Amino acid sequence: MLKDPVLIDLLQKAYSGEKAAAFAYQGHAGSVKSADEKLAIRQIEIDEWNHRAEVLAMMQQYGVPVSKLQEAKSYLIGKVISASCYVIGWFMPFYFAGNLESGNVCEYVRMKRLFNALDITEHDAVLYEMSLKEKEHEVYFYESIKNSKMLPFFERFFKWGNNNKKNDIDLDAGFYLEDTNRYCPGYGEKKQAHAPVDKAVQQV
Ligand SMILES: [Fe+2]
Ligand SMILES: [Fe+2]
Repeated sequence: MLKDPVLIDLLQKAYSGEKAAAFAYQGHAGSVKSADEKLAIRQIEIDEWNHRAEVLAMMQQYGVPVSKLQEAKSYLIGKVISASCYVIGWFMPFYFAGNLESGNVCEYVRMKRLFNALDITEHDAVLYEMSLKEKEHEVYFYESIKNSKMLPFFERFFKWGNNNKKNDIDLDAGFYLEDTNRYCPGYGEKKQAHAPVDKAVQQV
């Protein structure tokens, strides 16, 4: 049984959030005209369902219940976004998907840190893979809209775009499992996760 309420909350929100994302991508894929875009977004939807299954497996392992409230919220949010993709044009679904994915990267890094703070490392590889996948999703959506004239305007209001990202991971510079806990410094748990390492260093 997990005793960290922050981690429990994060697991429940991630599990339901993946459903909202998957639903949203159904509408997004349905609303774009390009066959390549349809295919890419459908694959992203599949990735999100896979993430949901991975998170559920962790929750079951530690007896963390699915939150009915989060599930209901996610159902509604996902379906509303999905339907809205057909009426808000091409740019906005790409923009908000990229913006959301940008934040999701750190959620899995943060989850890994919280597990590590409890001396649980068996989920490291899965959590790393999921954060990497979210980063790839962000890059896909960003690359699709990076030359749009709308981007600077949206970036000013929604804080994501050419000069703003919600994580500090740069795939070109490399992103490795061993370094995961050093990323996303804006998230408060970094210090805790590093504590056992610091202690070990002091002992030496
Ligand atoms: Fe995901
Ligand atoms: Fe994603």
